[in-house]
Amino acid sequence: MGNEAVGELYQSRGYPPMSHPSTDPAATSVAAWFAGLRPPHPGTARILEIGCASGHNLLPLAARWPGAICTGADISGEAIAQARRRAEEAGIRNVTFIAADLRELDLSGQEFDFIIAHGVFSWVADDAKKALLELCARHLSPSGTATISFNLWAGWEKRLPVVAAARRVMEEHGVDVVKALAILREVMAEHPDIIGIIDDMLVKGGDILTFDDFAPMNDPWPLDDFAAAAVSCGLRWLGDSNPAENIPSSLDDAAREALAPLVGDPLRMQMTADAMADRTFRSGLLCRADAPLSQRMTTGMAMELAVRPPEVRPSGIAPSLSDFLDALDSFRPDSVPVAEVLEKMGVKDIPATAKTVFQAITRGHLRARTEPVRIARGAERPRLDPFRLLCAREHIPLVDAWHAPCLFTEKIWPLLAEIDGTKTESELSEVARKLCPDLAFPVWLRHLKERGMFQ
Ligand SMILES: C[S@@+](CC[C@H](N)C(=O)[O-])C[C@H]1O[C@@H](n2cnc3c(N)ncnc32)[C@H](O)[C@@H]1O
Repeated sequence: MGNEAVGELYQSRGYPPMSHPSTDPAATSVAAWFAGLRPPHPGTARILEIGCASGHNLLPLAARWPGAICTGADISGEAIAQARRRAEEAGIRNVTFIAADLRELDLSGQEFDFIIAHGVFSWVADDAKKALLELCARHLSPSGTATISFNLWAGWEKRLPVVAAARRVMEEHGVDVVKALAILREVMAEHPDIIGIIDDMLVKGGDILTFDDFAPMNDPWPLDDFAAAAVSCGLRWLGDSNPAENIPSSLDDAAREALAPLVGDPLRMQMTADAMADRTFRSGLLCRADAPLSQRMTTGMAMELAVRPPEVRPSGIAPSLSDFLDALDSFRPDSVPVAEVLEKMGVKDIPATAKTVFQAITRGHLRARTEPVRIARGAERPRLDPFRLLCAREHIPLVDAWHAPCLFTEKIWPLLAEIDGTKTESELSEVARKLCPDLAFPVWLRHLKERGMFQ
């Protein structure tokens, strides 16, 4: 199976629009800082996305940073036409979309500070994989980073035979993928491991499975092959684009302790962790081989990082982190610079607290970015920005201030489309009463506010 089958799939069926927080330059820059690299501030950076589909990952970034210069490329002319139309209708002018095969993409000497390729590497043939890495090496700026996601052999080793078996059922019974998995589930009732894999696939649903597990090409690699391929193309692997995912967040303290002897060899340590967690996916952060890697994170840099607490407060944490999280709670839902939190706490031993903060970020106990998020409070007439309003009208996910997608049920879309800044909260509540009487409107509106959906 080659690139042709891949191209045909994406021309004939649009990929579901989605944003990916693991590619947000304000978040991936934290991983770069940890590795000793300081990319430019994304607000004035040059951002390139390869395999951008209809632009649902890139357009919210371009809307967030009008001073950034954004470029998206995809082999699907349909998807690019849709991306251009949405940019035009939402008045997003700092983005250009190109319909091209990445192997022939002409970027004529341009440099980019952030290159993103999400959901591309494992789903294209080897020549396109190589072309993608070479493109990054050619077009990254000296301190730029590329975020390239890929499927991992560690978890797919067990998953691929299930895909093969389901394909056989599809052929033999002439059924679609979801039905085939349901049949397989009955046959495999005695094998909990396989049932777990099948259930995980079924949660994705038929649409995503066609592009993912059951795509014409799905070629998982071990992490060391990915890192070596990057090196052979003039790049350097820096780790995961989320510093909390170098060691999979699903691993507990005992597993982490078992990994401790490997701390001097990050690649082996992470591969061992991937195997322990049956990990299926990674988002790799790369830079140029000659990138100016300097000092690792300093106390001063830690003070600049903007942080927010995790969804659920972790148990068994040190008192120093617990105090920090208590202070951070008073800033909810914002992401605020560490320095502000320390000022509120009146902390004297700044280096010690900075260390606590570093460790908490790598453990996923704090979510960090290089730019604060300050949620507007108390607007009398809530207003979605033009891109979110367009998404509401087209029933595609709204992307929040942290780049996470948010989907709604059928009845809610028309209500969202009314949040255009012309109505007060009580007028909107009246609309909600008519359109979706079961909705707890004040709670729902507060949730949207806290996700930074309003201007
Ligand atoms: C699985 S989708 C991922 C879309 C999007 N990046 C995301 O993660 O939501 C893969 C995308 O890569 C594009 N693609 C596949 N082969 C390509 C190639 N050779 N050159 C450029 N784009 C390609 C497809 O058209 C499709 O939009």
